[in-house]
Amino acid sequence: MASKNYIPPGTIDEIRNNNDIVEVIMECGVPLKQAGRNFKGLCPFHQEKTPSFSVSQEMQVFKCFGCDTGGNVIGFLQKHEGKTFIEAIEWLAERANIPLPTTDAKITTQQKRRNELSDLNRFAVKYYHELLRTGQHSQQAREYLKNRGIRSQTVNLFNLGYAKRQRNDLVKAATHQGWTVQQLVDVGLIKNEEQGPQDRFWNRILFPINNTQGVPVGFGGRSLSNEHQPKYLNSPGTVLYNKSKILFNLDKARQSITRTQSALLVEGYMDVLMLHQNGVENVIASSGTSLSEEHAGLLKRYTPEVVIVFDGDVSGLQAAQRGLQRLIAEGIRVRIALMPAGDDPDSFIKENGADVFNEVIDKAINLIEFQIQAAIKNKNIRKPDVKTKVVKNICEILVNIQNRVERSEYLKYTVRELDVDEGLLWSELRNLGLKDNPPRRNVQRQKIASQKLSSRERIECQFVESLIQAPELISEIKTQFDYRDLSNTRLVEISKLLWEASNDGEPVDVQQILNTSEDEHINNFISNALISKVEFPCHKKRIVGCLDKLRVLMIQDLEQRLRSNIQAEGNEDYESSLKELLSLTKQRRAVAQKMQSDMRHNSPLNDDSNFTLNTKDFNQEN
Ligand code: UTP
Ligand code: MN
Repeated sequence: MASKNYIPPGTIDEIRNNNDIVEVIMECGVPLKQAGRNFKGLCPFHQEKTPSFSVSQEMQVFKCFGCDTGGNVIGFLQKHEGKTFIEAIEWLAERANIPLPTTDAKITTQQKRRNELSDLNRFAVKYYHELLRTGQHSQQAREYLKNRGIRSQTVNLFNLGYAKRQRNDLVKAATHQGWTVQQLVDVGLIKNEEQGPQDRFWNRILFPINNTQGVPVGFGGRSLSNEHQPKYLNSPGTVLYNKSKILFNLDKARQSITRTQSALLVEGYMDVLMLHQNGVENVIASSGTSLSEEHAGLLKRYTPEVVIVFDGDVSGLQAAQRGLQRLIAEGIRVRIALMPAGDDPDSFIKENGADVFNEVIDKAINLIEFQIQAAIKNKNIRKPDVKTKVVKNICEILVNIQNRVERSEYLKYTVRELDVDEGLLWSELRNLGLKDNPPRRNVQRQKIASQKLSSRERIECQFVESLIQAPELISEIKTQFDYRDLSNTRLVEISKLLWEASNDGEPVDVQQILNTSEDEHINNFISNALISKVEFPCHKKRIVGCLDKLRVLMIQDLEQRLRSNIQAEGNEDYESSLKELLSLTKQRRAVAQKMQSDMRHNSPLNDDSNFTLNTKDFNQEN
């Protein structure tokens, strides 16, 4: 993110150091009590009855051992208050009375260009908005909005606008103010055509589309008559407007989304406006594009749940299926609320009010349950061949669920709904390529996750965790080990950050990584390592112990590969492979011997009990 660069890392650190995480979290309305070395409380990021949310004043990180969320004070404000990184920094700077450098202190030309284009968009929003409110020729547009029940407060809040009938009105007004035709083309407001530059939007009501920070990046424009097609015309993608990253109204909705831990996704601009006007504020729309992976990732930052509010016709549902699958893949809980036939959220809330609307949202059913019901609906499952087919269809849904516990819950649900044998469903799932066995009852989530890690990955976790706890050792370890030799890709990513952060023997500042990394798994892992930092006299011994174990495992992997190479038929370099194998075995024995003598000379070298191994973040499958 370019905007991050305007605050130097040193200032970010100063700001962080002057805002105690325990105080800030309590100020944000999360009660904490001291318990031993840490503070504890009920986790604000998931529902729980016994506190598993820990905050370490010493390490200045928080970590929930229930839902796995973790980070530093900046990350907390982003997650809990729905602030952007910059907003979190600005808030903390003000709290600690630390002046921030002015925005234009060190701005690159590219940023300058983006800022100019943002200013141009701001100008256009204002221009169109004034036209709508007071223009002589906007009577029809004002009437139209009034007839649709949009109040003037809503018109003002959303900065709705009107573009006149003339095809060069904005071109004239903007160039008169000093904007160039090229700039107008670059933000998608005009098009160069044979007869000269032409406004993209004419005789339309305009809905400004903002980015998450509330800066306008584009427009949606609704025509005022059926003859004027298309009904909605949207800005093209531009340097400011990346359609797969922008959600309409997220800027206004995000506070409410983090507060309610739920986002309502609707189809249209009008739906958003009408819901907001009726007090339902956690609502967003994807403005005419299907939901992308980036949209899903963006939403995941604010909420664990998305409720899709569909029009009464089912075609919309089918069209959106791909997008919904993306949400599920991101680990977001998806529920479906269907409006009655002929209604969209706009018309429904207008007729029935917010209470009735909210009841429909409360009753929204889980997407997976919805899909299972759809597979069963109107099928005569007493006929064996029909039932076989239905079971097969449902298994195709179940096989996509990432979370094993959830999958097994829906499997049981299917057993009840269809009256089929559970074992039969499992075997069907295995036929579809599912590798898991039925989970044993009462197995904790964490255990399930760690079962999936190989023994090598578990040692890698310990290794990286120790490095985070003893960052002063990284520059030395760096010379002895190549992080790319780690087998777990997430651990490779973290180690890469650690390696990059270590210069000239200076101790690595792990908090700086937390400041800038936006990867949740990385932040959770680092926070976990910091909060469970054990006072241990010799970190180095632990790390070296891990390294030795890793070397042995790596050599074993190589040996294994060579052995199967040797056994392979028609192997031409049999001789050399055999030689290599012997030398590897020698190497491995040497490392093992060294480890044994280390053990004899000193005791608690990498004693597993000293690690609070958190493997949840490292499952490469999530
Ligand atoms: P709808 O056709 O359902 O419109 O399109 P709506 O929101 O109910 O609008 P009104 O009530 O008739 O004014 C839903 C959304 O699909 C996109 C727009 O984002 C719209 O809000 N869309 C629709 C387009 O991008 N282009 C179109 O031509 C139509
Ligand atoms: Mn509508």
